[in-house]
Amino acid sequence: MGIISNKAVLVTGGAGFIGSNIIDKLLGQNNRVVCLDNFATGKRENLAAQLNNPDFSLIEGDIRDLATCRRATEGIDIVLHQAALGSVPRSINDPLTSNEVNVNGFLNMLVAARDAGVKRLVYAASSSTYGDSTELPKVEERIGQPLSPYAVTKYVNELYASVFARTYKMELVGLRYFNVFGPRQDPNGAYAAVIPLFVKALIAHERPRINGDGSFSRDFTYVANVVQANERAATIDRADAVNTVYNVACGERSTLNELFGHLRTLLSAFDPEIARLEPDYGPERLGDVPHSLASIDKIKSLLGYAPTHYFQDGLKSAIAWYWNNLK
Ligand SMILES: NC(=O)c1ccc[n+]([C@@H]2O[C@H](COP(=O)([O-])OP(=O)(O)OC[C@H]3O[C@@H](n4cnc5c(N)ncnc54)[C@H](O)[C@@H]3O)[C@@H](O)[C@H]2O)c1
Repeated sequence: MGIISNKAVLVTGGAGFIGSNIIDKLLGQNNRVVCLDNFATGKRENLAAQLNNPDFSLIEGDIRDLATCRRATEGIDIVLHQAALGSVPRSINDPLTSNEVNVNGFLNMLVAARDAGVKRLVYAASSSTYGDSTELPKVEERIGQPLSPYAVTKYVNELYASVFARTYKMELVGLRYFNVFGPRQDPNGAYAAVIPLFVKALIAHERPRINGDGSFSRDFTYVANVVQANERAATIDRADAVNTVYNVACGERSTLNELFGHLRTLLSAFDPEIARLEPDYGPERLGDVPHSLASIDKIKSLLGYAPTHYFQDGLKSAIAWYWNNLK
């Protein structure tokens, strides 16, 4: 139950952090996998282990092009749609491109999947859709006003999915990921996420920058839990569990100060010098939500999801990868 096997699966954004972790899991379970990616932020090296696998094929192309989406969905049973431009600050700097990829590209994928007769499409939604809602924990049915263009694009995905499900009788499932982390998350560039940024700084004996006083908290979610959620959403066989959205998280939150402390302790085992480093506190960042915590009751009860890695387990699992790849 809850495992994808003997299927033809298209993973868009498969050269990215989450997509490539999904692909590795699927190719160990007797599936045929197609990856569609334009390498905007993804990397060929994330697919290195699979490039010569006969069950794997790569389409280097852009979801903004409908013909490419049609080619990628031919003969496909399941689409796991991960392709998007992530990052709130990126969308604030360039809302047009975030919209073109995240909204127009998503719509292309829906149309292509509909016309190709794809049985189910699972897509990456986002916890940013909770916007300015201060309610904790976040429950799927109650959202606030979006706080960034990125959040708008991810919410528009949900609206389109709902309309396509009703209008064309498609099976669509949205997964609102909460601060995902793990191997292959990119530490470089202006839009890197907090965990690889902290790790990279600590390994370089620099003080990681914390925006604010470190009391902001997040429901940090190890990537294996996200892979599990995709598999369950793609295979669930009950009508009331599809054509809806789910939080994907652990249902517990940690502050940035706690995150810093755990990373410093774990990395000190590789390099004792790291133990003396302290954070560098700076001003709060525009658009940052103070606290984020998911209710995972819905995904537990309807999809049978159960996190295999809570926050600290996930950090422990990822730490050797961080050390080997970010130093
Ligand atoms: N990482 C998180 O914490 C998080 C949280 C919420 C939602 N998400 C969503 O999860 C998905 C995967 O995120 P990720 O963290 O793996 O990011 P990522 O940047 O590593 O992966 C995104 C992939 O999409 C590809 N892509 C971008 N534009 C494309 C285009 N026009 N055509 C084809 N491919 C394109 C990129 O090259 C990349 O490989 C995204 O939809 C993101 O919005 C991520």
